[in-house]
Amino acid sequence: MTLLEVRNLRLRFDTKDGPLQVLDEISFKLEAGETLAMVGESGSGKSLTALTLMGLLPPGAIIETGEVLLEGRNLLTLSARQWRSVRGRELAMVYQDANSALHPLLTVGEQLAEAILAHRKESPSEVRKACASALGEVGISAPEARLDAYPHELSGGMRQRVVIAMALLARPKVLIADEPTTAVDVTMQAQILELLEHLRAKYSMAVLLVTHDLGVVARAAQKVAVVYAGRTVELATTKELFQTPLHPYSVGLLRSAPSEAAQSMASVLAASPSQGPTQSPSQAPARLFSIPGMAPSPARMPVGCAFHPRCPFEVARCSRERPELKAWRVEVPSNMHTGLVTATSRRAACFEQERVAAAAVASRTGWHELEQLWLAKMEPRT
Ligand SMILES: Nc1ncnc2c1ncn2[C@@H]1O[C@H](COP(=O)(O)OP(=O)(O)O)[C@@H](O)[C@H]1O
Ligand code: SF4
Ligand SMILES: [Mg+2]
Repeated sequence: MTLLEVRNLRLRFDTKDGPLQVLDEISFKLEAGETLAMVGESGSGKSLTALTLMGLLPPGAIIETGEVLLEGRNLLTLSARQWRSVRGRELAMVYQDANSALHPLLTVGEQLAEAILAHRKESPSEVRKACASALGEVGISAPEARLDAYPHELSGGMRQRVVIAMALLARPKVLIADEPTTAVDVTMQAQILELLEHLRAKYSMAVLLVTHDLGVVARAAQKVAVVYAGRTVELATTKELFQTPLHPYSVGLLRSAPSEAAQSMASVLAASPSQGPTQSPSQAPARLFSIPGMAPSPARMPVGCAFHPRCPFEVARCSRERPELKAWRVEVPSNMHTGLVTATSRRAACFEQERVAAAAVASRTGWHELEQLWLAKMEPRT
């Protein structure tokens, strides 16, 4: 049975200016022991999805449809009391900002102890031992001594480790990490990702890694859910996505990845030589690219496919009909020189995905043509 499945989650806020549809069919599956990255621009609904999974919706949020199935049990039907036995124990969350997750006036030990005592009864000496061991587990040296430190006495990376230690106390089945490396520097980012990976493997835990950074996806995730405007637009393994994206938005994200991310992506592709990448993203021209246009605001969502105002592959129906996220059996040209075609079952919400896949493969020898398509798209129409 799938560990965690989110099915067609739709969520809105009712405001004085009318309803705001912020999640419009988010779907993905997370299996035990794997890391799935949820990737998309700021405002695409990643944090609200994470909060829904934790039963921590902001006031005014209304779930319209959808299911969040944890081992087959729909969490969206739980009472507040039932949520208390699930939250922290079966699903736990690491927030982006360790500072706001830690109380500034309590020592690290006091905060860990509080979290332990919320789950089980233990003597003070047992609790102290468990707290020190939790800190050791996340790679904090001299853990005993750190228990008496206040958050401000620790570095940013160390605070984030403490937050991870707290989330892991009850050995949750699913760890949700919402942009866990955004507030730390690049070196610390790599260490935090390594730590999450180590803990995932050690405890066969599933990790939902929320990020806007494809370099993080490449380093840490086996699968990816690409979200745009509150909607899952592509589901793939990390290799499949980097090899042959099927949604134009995924293509744009890959193209706009900064060079360190492109290097991580290239190493993912290099691990799959049979699929024969003709050119890795790291060899793409260094010229900076960003997807033209802006992500739409929920107050002004385009009709049809929400990506159509920015999409260089748009056809007439895209501004009228909304493409469903369907499983398609697509024949993907995996090597343009040999004509080799791979048949694969993938999920993307785009009417033109075969064309997109072919263009993405062709782009491995240079992004020029794709960029021309994008430029032509953005020219003012007469
Ligand atoms: N409490 C709220 N009331 C109204 N709109 C909100 C609220 N929280 C988030 N939103 C809107 O929902 C959308 C998705 O937000 P969020 O999930 O935070 O995006 P992400 O984490 O991908 O950056 C954004 O357009 C945001 O402005
Ligand atoms: S459905 Fe149309 S507008 Fe939407 S991503 Fe696909 S080609 Fe572009
Ligand atoms: Mg967010």
